[in-house]
Amino acid sequence: MLSSLPIDRVEAYRLRRPLGAGGMALVFEAVHEILGTEVAIKLAAPHVCRDPTLRARFLNEARALIKIDHPRVIHATGCGQIVTEDDAPILYIIMELLRGRTLRDRLAAGPLSIDEARQIGLQVAEAMCEVQRHGLVHRDLKPENIMLLEDGAAERQLRVKVIDFGIAKVPAAAAPVRWFPTCPQSAELLGQKLS
Ligand SMILES: Nc1ncnc2c1ncn2[C@@H]1O[C@H](COP(=O)(O)OP(=O)(O)O)[C@@H](O)[C@H]1O
Ligand SMILES: [Mg+2]
Repeated sequence: MLSSLPIDRVEAYRLRRPLGAGGMALVFEAVHEILGTEVAIKLAAPHVCRDPTLRARFLNEARALIKIDHPRVIHATGCGQIVTEDDAPILYIIMELLRGRTLRDRLAAGPLSIDEARQIGLQVAEAMCEVQRHGLVHRDLKPENIMLLEDGAAERQLRVKVIDFGIAKVPAAAAPVRWFPTCPQSAELLGQKLS
């Protein structure tokens, strides 16, 4: 997968290995070439990069994820676009790297116990409360988009993160800020109309 990509780095990150793919994107593990820090980078599929509506939707995901900083929701730290030598744009989102597997992969290995189902359900509900608090609607909650994390926690303790806000409903941006080239306060003091 990596060898067929027209790029092997994004900003200062070197793409290391594929982590997964969905209908809209490929996700890679990547490492910062100077700092050695690891991240996940979501690259929009070529059909997404070419279509203005899908491009806007992809960038909406970055806008949603940058806002949320919560242990049950994937967090993004940046996004951008690379233009390849053949002039093809590739949109990307830089996210925290999650170690683990999706709930879909877990279910393929056998049914959940009642305790596992309870823990997963509660944590997904917590994630959705946080998402709702930001005025967002995920709209694509399914086992592929729920990650079960591997970490040092006690074996019976599951940790869950909700990923993939690719078709989330993001509230319209607040009314654009109007910037005044000159100092607005003095204009107000002089009683001038600013609009
Ligand atoms: N931050 C991440 N860390 C590790 N793996 C990830 C991460 N984000 C996504 N993945 C993997 O990549 C797959 C596709 O990512 P996703 O965001 O769901 O893309 P799509 O919008 O195309 O469905 C996921 O099902 C998961 O296996
Ligand atoms: Mg997905």
